[in-house]
Amino acid sequence: MATFHIFRFDPTKDKTIRFDRFEVPDKKGLTVLDGLYYILENLDGSLAFRSSCRAGVCGSCAMHINGQYRLSCTTSVKPLGKNVTIRPLAHLPVLKDLVVDLTNFFRHYEKIKPYLITNDQPPKKEFIQQPAQRKKIESLIDCILCGACYGSCPVAAGEPNYLGPHALLKAARFIFDSRDTNDRERINLINHNLGVFRCHTIFNCQQVCPKKIDPSEAIARMKMKTVWSKLRGFFGS
Ligand code: F3S
Repeated sequence: MATFHIFRFDPTKDKTIRFDRFEVPDKKGLTVLDGLYYILENLDGSLAFRSSCRAGVCGSCAMHINGQYRLSCTTSVKPLGKNVTIRPLAHLPVLKDLVVDLTNFFRHYEKIKPYLITNDQPPKKEFIQQPAQRKKIESLIDCILCGACYGSCPVAAGEPNYLGPHALLKAARFIFDSRDTNDRERINLINHNLGVFRCHTIFNCQQVCPKKIDPSEAIARMKMKTVWSKLRGFFGS
């Protein structure tokens, strides 16, 4: 058996948080998400958590598991040992148990305008992108917006209006995309006191990303690009 210790809190009736303990049969290949479903279906039907694809693609089931943010669907119980302690994503209000309110998270995402912006005449059929151009955004496009980076970022903990690693990574995904041609607007969206320079290069986001993306590196590239674009404007070239 594996013992699950799960954060419980219902803000509509609980005064304080607690951890509930459940024994889950440790079957071969058991994932943390399997364990949560076992609890929901057999031990406590009131347990709240999010999940959808069960394949590490949708980003719904990110949570804090044994000291690290991970996707519960792709995290096996066996390497974690006999005890599994689960908390919700941090820095966001808890709606119930492991479910957090993602309104602020997606508000920041919307602010960076997560779609192609181009000043050019749209192509008749499709935007052509060469392999070398595609390579420039290769490491940025796989983000599934799970929130693990946001939950791990101490700057986001102290400043809820900071854009956060997820939104800044998405900004980079468009800034370095050859099909997006409105650099000036893009830079203005991130060049403010709650944007790219609020990142203190703490690297937690890089360590926890379940898709092995590096938001800190993308943010560093955007800091450079922002400085260069301002210098170019200053010297008028
Ligand atoms: Fe936060 Fe990542 Fe920057 S953890 S401070 S966004 S390097």
